[in-house]
Amino acid sequence: MSVSPRFDGKRVLLIIGGGIAAYKCLELIRRLKERGATVRAIMTRAAEEFVTPLSVSSLTGEIVYRSLFDLTQEAEMGHIQLSRDADLLVVAPATADLMAKMASGQANDLATTALLATDKPVLIAPAMNVRMWEHAATQRNRATLAKDGIQFVGPNDGDMACGEFGPGRMAEPVEILHAIEAQLAGPA
Ligand SMILES: Cc1cc2nc3c(=O)[nH]c(=O)nc-3n(C[C@H](O)[C@H](O)[C@H](O)COP(=O)(O)O)c2cc1C
Repeated sequence: MSVSPRFDGKRVLLIIGGGIAAYKCLELIRRLKERGATVRAIMTRAAEEFVTPLSVSSLTGEIVYRSLFDLTQEAEMGHIQLSRDADLLVVAPATADLMAKMASGQANDLATTALLATDKPVLIAPAMNVRMWEHAATQRNRATLAKDGIQFVGPNDGDMACGEFGPGRMAEPVEILHAIEAQLAGPA
């Protein structure tokens, strides 16, 4: 697979969910930045258990957006503006919980509110334990999100951090880059 898409002038809003695959986001941010994209990141509260806002901020070169009710952040770059200022929203890792919230239209934190408030394309990279992925609820949510026009990259089959094997492993950063490239190119 070639690894050379350029994203000069493109703005990606990356929403990082609370899954073990969150560490792969650091690599994704680095590769997006290398290729000329501007990356802003929103981290959910759970995401901060897996990667630090400091690491994410160091790589994006921007503050990390973390709270819906932070007066300073809301005054400088509100939740509506965050999605308005992006060409594409990418959710990686898209946890089972985030998928469920998106599918039911919840907006109870900054990540879900930005996702509900956007009219931009949204690409999600699901990542979870195989049984969570195969659960009827997650499959129902997957179908609802696909019907709503949400684009997917992965999940892949593979060994998981939990020691199991099967579908649920997050797509690798290079695959996500190519999916982003396809989204930013728009409809053929
Ligand atoms: C060690 C650990 C790893 C986890 N990995 C995942 C995961 O890969 N995918 C997932 O959907 N949930 C995972 N969870 C559960 C989520 O962290 C939990 O559902 C959380 O509420 C998701 O928050 P979010 O909506 O901010 O992503 C994990 C939990 C722990 C403690």
